[in-house]
Amino acid sequence: MNLAGNYHRAGLGQRNFAMGGTACLLGLLFCLLVQAAPPEVGRKQLIRVLHSPNETVASRLQALQTLARMAPLPAATFVKTMQEAPAALQRALAMQLAQDESGAKTLLGSVLAGKCSARLLEQDSIMTRLQQVASKQQQQALEDLLDNVSSVDEEIITLIAQRRRGFLAAKTEAKRGQAVFEKNCVACHRVKKDGGKIGPDLNGVGHRGLDRMLEDVLDPHRNVDPDFRRTTVVTTEGGILSGLLVPGKGTQRLLMDQQGKEIVLDQSKIEEAIISPLSAMPTGLAGHLPAGEFYDLLAYLLTLQRKPGTPSPK
Ligand code: HEC
Repeated sequence: MNLAGNYHRAGLGQRNFAMGGTACLLGLLFCLLVQAAPPEVGRKQLIRVLHSPNETVASRLQALQTLARMAPLPAATFVKTMQEAPAALQRALAMQLAQDESGAKTLLGSVLAGKCSARLLEQDSIMTRLQQVASKQQQQALEDLLDNVSSVDEEIITLIAQRRRGFLAAKTEAKRGQAVFEKNCVACHRVKKDGGKIGPDLNGVGHRGLDRMLEDVLDPHRNVDPDFRRTTVVTTEGGILSGLLVPGKGTQRLLMDQQGKEIVLDQSKIEEAIISPLSAMPTGLAGHLPAGEFYDLLAYLLTLQRKPGTPSPK
């Protein structure tokens, strides 16, 4: 993959770096660092920054830009970062990847597998590029994804920005946040051993850092894990149910509804099961929490690090 050569032509830097003085200063620092250190050390340092949720999105973007100028990055590095990155960084990574054929194919695979947000397809340049490398069948799958993607909601973007500022200024307590979690989230999510199975196990989720966490909690349809999509079931008796459909014993299927209630259905009673591109996580749930409770909840979620002893991103 020749990322270095293509980078300037794409003009990505100019578009994403209208970010003001701090970013410029950081950029300068990076350049100095890269020049002063032996190339391998500089590169390792930059990859660390790119992956680190404790760095600001601006510095992570900057690290990506510098890395792309140095030498091609392995596609696996992109995919790994993308899975846990906030939207702005996902977009920049996707633009990078889409530039050559093998990168575009990697990206195509990740989008189709639900490993990164289908909203990337709303970016015309990315969609066109993926269409070019897709087979006929994959092209159809891409169009279906794009048709069904839930668009960026301005109100949610504003809410995310407000809650980010509020959180950084607030005096939070993770212990109180745990109580908020137990009241509002535990029906669907497990932490340690307790909790529901409608949503993913949240152990280690704190590792993603503040920006991605805000997006995951306030805008659940942005990155939907394909194993946790909402299914609407039409029964042979004409009933309509909605929730997460998972296999049960023998011919049984379990439908877990939004309240965490399990409904046992026999396969023969299911007329139709329509899998939605939307998350089974209710939108607005966390957004409607009182600000103080929300900040404590966030502080708690950020303590859920895989490795004990990792410093909190705050
Ligand atoms: C009705 C069930 C339900 C409730 C209640 C719920 N969630 Fe979720 N949540 C889900 C599902 C399903 C997913 C996975 C789909 C997705 O990625 O959106 C998810 C995803 C997440 C993720 C991203 C995890 C990952 O691995 O990508 C986070 C973080 C999260 N929820 C936090 C919360 C918090 C905090 C609350 C309480 C305020 C909450 N959820 C309440 C169902 C729920």
